[in-house]
Amino acid sequence: MSAPIRVAVTGAAGNIGYSLLWRIASGSCFGPDQPVILQLLEIPPVMDKLNGVVMELVDSAFPLVQDIVATSDAEVAFGDADQLFLVGSRPRSKGMLRSDLVAANGPIFVGQGKAIEAAASRDAKVIVVGNPCNTNCLIANHYAPSVKNFSAMTRLDQNRAKGQIGSVAGVATGVIDDVIIWGNHSPTMYSYVGRATIDGKAATDVLDADWIANHFHKTVSTRGKAIIEARGASSAASAASASIDHMHDWFHGSNGRIVSMAVRSEGWYGVPEGLIFSFPHIIDDNGVAHLVEDIALTDYDRQKIQVSIDELVGEREAVKDLLG
Ligand code: NAD
Ligand code: LMR
Repeated sequence: MSAPIRVAVTGAAGNIGYSLLWRIASGSCFGPDQPVILQLLEIPPVMDKLNGVVMELVDSAFPLVQDIVATSDAEVAFGDADQLFLVGSRPRSKGMLRSDLVAANGPIFVGQGKAIEAAASRDAKVIVVGNPCNTNCLIANHYAPSVKNFSAMTRLDQNRAKGQIGSVAGVATGVIDDVIIWGNHSPTMYSYVGRATIDGKAATDVLDADWIANHFHKTVSTRGKAIIEARGASSAASAASASIDHMHDWFHGSNGRIVSMAVRSEGWYGVPEGLIFSFPHIIDDNGVAHLVEDIALTDYDRQKIQVSIDELVGEREAVKDLLG
């Protein structure tokens, strides 16, 4: 057995938390030989509910769980944390855009960014799930300059894209590789299949071009809204599952496959420096994410990507007061 790692989860008593914690505790994320110490954060009015979640975790008797800390103090929750899931924040309801949540949720990530800088491991890996996740990640990263590994989650969008392709092509998603999500976790995201394969064949040779242009992109980019309308609540189990996939691959490596994660641009593919933007990555066996730099984008692809760039520049402008 390895030494335990410290895993912080915010919003731990929420809907996503209720799925996510059991997957972390069971070993699905960090592996069956990796003990974990769970460090759970909630706001003070929700501590009773969090204590109920902790009781259920204890009752699940997971052999890998070495300790559970439940707190409303972010510096305690992030103390020496190696892996951080920043989920805690308000979800949107029917009729809202994710960007409508900036005012409610942005300030949370100022305080949590500062707490990460003060308390987390310098090598910590952070995934921001709380929406609007790209811009919340930008805020938290701004306040934690000495922690380099910040990301926002577009893995749910990648999974949704694979789910759609699998349904139409009549295959299980295990034979679909290298679907890429570019940009913002919002309707401006661009789900790209130019590198994707289905059972080893180019996806563009298997899929109907009209379906890709007129159905696929829109279905993937508006899926969150469709789920809110159908379920009356934001996606939760699929979001938890995608965040496990994201952190699993960032921890163990992506086995040569391309994964989408939103990280701080260094000017890649014409995306302005500093924006948190979803790009294709391959993660090596040491858990280091490498940008895939050789995607040959067409003018059409660049136009689609530009729409997401413009939106994220606008979101950054909208939170400039929070960036100090
Ligand atoms: P939820 O309302 O069920 O749970 C959120 C929890 O966060 C609540 O328990 C709340 O008390 C807690 N919280 C609020 N402020 C906090 C703070 N400052 N510190 C710690 N905890 C805090 O919501 P949910 O369904 O779990 O969704 C959480 C977030 O994830 C939402 O913003 C939602 O939009 C987002 N989300 C993102 C994706 C994605 O793909 N990136 C997918 C689904 C949901
Ligand atoms: C999703 O994509 O399901 C989440 O981001 C929730 C939402 O508001 O769409």
